[in-house]
Amino acid sequence: MLSAIEQTGKISIVKRNFSWGEDLSLIIRTVERHFSDFNGNGFYPHPEEEALQRELLNIPTLRRLGEAIGRAALRGMAITDLGLSHLSEAHRNAVLYAIALTRGFPTSTDQRTKRVAWDVRAKRANQQAARFTTFSERVGGAEMHTDSSFYPMPEEQFMLYVVSAARCNGGESLIIDVDDIHRELEKTREGRIAYSLLTTRDVPFRVPAVYAAEDDNVEYYLAPVFRRDGGLKIRWRYDSILKGLAARPDLSSPELVDAIELVNDIVERQAPRFHRHLPDDTLLWADNHHTLHGRAMYTDPERHLIRIRTSNTPNARRIGPSGISAD
Ligand SMILES: [Fe+2]
Repeated sequence: MLSAIEQTGKISIVKRNFSWGEDLSLIIRTVERHFSDFNGNGFYPHPEEEALQRELLNIPTLRRLGEAIGRAALRGMAITDLGLSHLSEAHRNAVLYAIALTRGFPTSTDQRTKRVAWDVRAKRANQQAARFTTFSERVGGAEMHTDSSFYPMPEEQFMLYVVSAARCNGGESLIIDVDDIHRELEKTREGRIAYSLLTTRDVPFRVPAVYAAEDDNVEYYLAPVFRRDGGLKIRWRYDSILKGLAARPDLSSPELVDAIELVNDIVERQAPRFHRHLPDDTLLWADNHHTLHGRAMYTDPERHLIRIRTSNTPNARRIGPSGISAD
């Protein structure tokens, strides 16, 4: 199904070695039958998503692809040459939605439109109101982070599909395994103190003002950075934590600030990382609880990816908002 090309730690690059055959149009027809409106080709969490999931899993190629991703027990997998580049936007996004649904339950990125498939690309200058642009809507780099860090239930997984890679030798995708961050922390006394503090102490993750219900109301979510739960998990977004601590100085302390700064230094500079320029028609699947992701600086405004976040919990049973367009 997937041929290994290379593997670094728990992150691998593979190549599709199957033919979609007739199953590609069967997937598209099945999704089309359930969505009368593609919601601007962004879809939305389908009200009958569990039934739709069962139906899609009856399509052999799709089921086997989902199983192959899950069976690998990896934390990140880039599948090159996925075979969707010839499709229209609507059909390509339908297949991406279907692949995401084999892995869990796609969540809406935008609370207003409920879009599930989100375009990660720079907005044109005339669409940009500086205050409303986020990592996913501007050129440049993105600091290492987990998605939805400031909400109660960050999705377990996300996918990025490369429609058009940056043509400027930039915009590489970056992933760091949380175990590598822990390993770096264990090397020094300061690191061990930081790890202990960030495992036992809640820190406030501020919800970006743009997404909070009311701008005057500072919203934040309290959670530890590290959590032991079926292996070590991480929740991280440096700017959100700094803003959270500024809003709640009563929760701050010099030791906590030192710990945050140390982890930031490790994730931005020291920890080993997957660092790849992913070509067009690549699907990057990643674990949002056990890895951080980011992207290297780029300037090509035509770079275009599609992102879908996927929760293990059906949308009807999720707590709090789903992800946002930031990240
Ligand atoms: Fe992100």
